[in-house]
Amino acid sequence: MNDRTIIEVIPNPLVRSMPTWVPPSLFKKRFTATSHPKRMHLNESPYPPSPSVIDAMKKACEAVNRYPDAHWQALVTALAERTGIPAARIVLGNGSDELIASAGRIALMPGDTVIAPVPSFASFAKAALINGASLRAVKVRKDGACDVEAMLEAIDETTRLLFLATPNNPTGAMLTASEVRKVAMEVPETCLLVVDEAYHEFAMQAGGEDPLPVLNTRTGPWVVFRSFSKAYGLAGIRVGYGICGSEEVVGGFQLARNAFTVNAIAQAGALAALQDTEHMESIVAAMATERERVSAGLRGLGCETFPSVANFVTARTRLAAVDVMKALEARGILISRLSTKGFENHIRVTVGKSEETNALLSEMRKILEA
Ligand SMILES: Cc1ncc(COP(=O)(O)O)c(C=O)c1O
Repeated sequence: MNDRTIIEVIPNPLVRSMPTWVPPSLFKKRFTATSHPKRMHLNESPYPPSPSVIDAMKKACEAVNRYPDAHWQALVTALAERTGIPAARIVLGNGSDELIASAGRIALMPGDTVIAPVPSFASFAKAALINGASLRAVKVRKDGACDVEAMLEAIDETTRLLFLATPNNPTGAMLTASEVRKVAMEVPETCLLVVDEAYHEFAMQAGGEDPLPVLNTRTGPWVVFRSFSKAYGLAGIRVGYGICGSEEVVGGFQLARNAFTVNAIAQAGALAALQDTEHMESIVAAMATERERVSAGLRGLGCETFPSVANFVTARTRLAAVDVMKALEARGILISRLSTKGFENHIRVTVGKSEETNALLSEMRKILEA
């Protein structure tokens, strides 16, 4: 299928105008480059979930003739205990990505504006454009953190949604609680404030501050998104959650969502993962050690790195990122690159096991010295 057939088949011009449609033929080529590539491109965990999580999911399989709990009661109760936020203020999604899309659906009308950092997670732009809103992308600071001052300045009376990401993907930098407080206080009440914390557990391990206490002082609408995909190693079952500022904000997400989002196996797996914090924490600690090896190794090869606290490192290389990516792919290593204008030489590498770091650095040396 090419662009022409999409234009003929899809009536909605907002869908047709989405910038990042990749033809399936390209995906096919990418994933057949080698049979077992090292997956350092999607910020996944290199470790499987703990045995108790796998057992819980197997057990849940026995009852999949039934629909899942549409209100995720066991999981939101456990999340309420963990976060200290009442269960009635927690909403679940099929990955936090689904919640990002829902935030766009509940906050936006055509003609509104959305403020988001750049470079950052592509779904923020998608949430804006697919709802007919325009995106004001505000460049991150030199250290890679969201530029809070500039984002606040970009707000006007048409702004209905503001995305903060801490730590930000792809730079890996986090905000302090006082920076989040400034946003929480100054974003108008007519604007939904979203704080994307998909890498929350990594930020905590690195000594970051939990933004929930300061967000709790905001009177306008807000929501924090977290994920089981990263630190908990459960990307494949798709569970994310939103901690909302009020039950009214939860109500918005409930109205916009599909009836049985988050399947029964995923709910069981996420619940078991929450009960095995030790497993998650040991993996996050291992990732932190490996992250420093990746960063130092890339710097040793002459690259400039952003100071990341997450499970990935973004680095500026002397070569075009697309060429580095292709060369690594031919050697069986998948990485990602930044598509933002001005960042053409930036690659993003997901932290893996130590043998993956070794392979990456050794192949990078050959590519950069060729
Ligand atoms: C900043 C950020 N937010 C959200 C997501 C979506 O995560 P998931 O849908 O797997 O919960 C990602 C995934 O990479 C991300 O990097």
